[in-house]
Amino acid sequence: MSEKRLRVVVLISGRGRNLQSLINRAAGDLPAEIVGVISNRPRAAGLARADKAGIPTVVIDHADFESRAGFEAALQAAIDNFEPGLVVLAGFMRKLGDDFVAHYPGRMINIHPSLLPAFRGLDTHERALEAGVKEHGCSVHFVTEKLDGGPIIAQMRVRVEDGDDPEALAARVLTYEHELLPAVVHWFAEGRLRINDGGVEMDGMTLMAPALLEMEAR
Ligand code: GRF
Repeated sequence: MSEKRLRVVVLISGRGRNLQSLINRAAGDLPAEIVGVISNRPRAAGLARADKAGIPTVVIDHADFESRAGFEAALQAAIDNFEPGLVVLAGFMRKLGDDFVAHYPGRMINIHPSLLPAFRGLDTHERALEAGVKEHGCSVHFVTEKLDGGPIIAQMRVRVEDGDDPEALAARVLTYEHELLPAVVHWFAEGRLRINDGGVEMDGMTLMAPALLEMEAR
């Protein structure tokens, strides 16, 4: 039975709280197994979370490489060594080159803390507050060569409250991220998701808009 579970490699750079949400869910009903965790930062706190869960970790420190190509070749080798069916970027903070991305067509996803296409890139919570939006949120999308611009699979909306500062908003959005990411991995593991012609196919139908999850949804 266990050999039928989706093999997932998770890439992190920092705290790894999204990683933790996957670890927790993989111990439960998620038909997927996290077979490896890779960090580009040796001190990423998320590495300890993987260790604690008995998941093999690898550090590919970008600072050890003179070129991005060299870093990405090492990263690709480390990922492929785990023979994953899905690669999850969970707070992985390096831009990835076109060749690297093209190596994982339709099998690499990223979680981003905004309602894409709004607020691609960094500092999304600050920028959302500055823009005065009433609704913020998080998105999971397939990774393509366009930064934070691949086909969006699913989103959760989060209300911006009066008095929110970036930290408060980030913390609230993160609780939603912890629902959204395992839910999308679950769908992928069940074979329900596919990338097609720049769009997302779910259960054989092209999504006209990202799937919208509510907090209770799994
Ligand atoms: C999350 O908000 C994720 O969406 C963003 O970076 C943050 C990572 O947090 N890309 P963590 O490492 O999962 O705690």
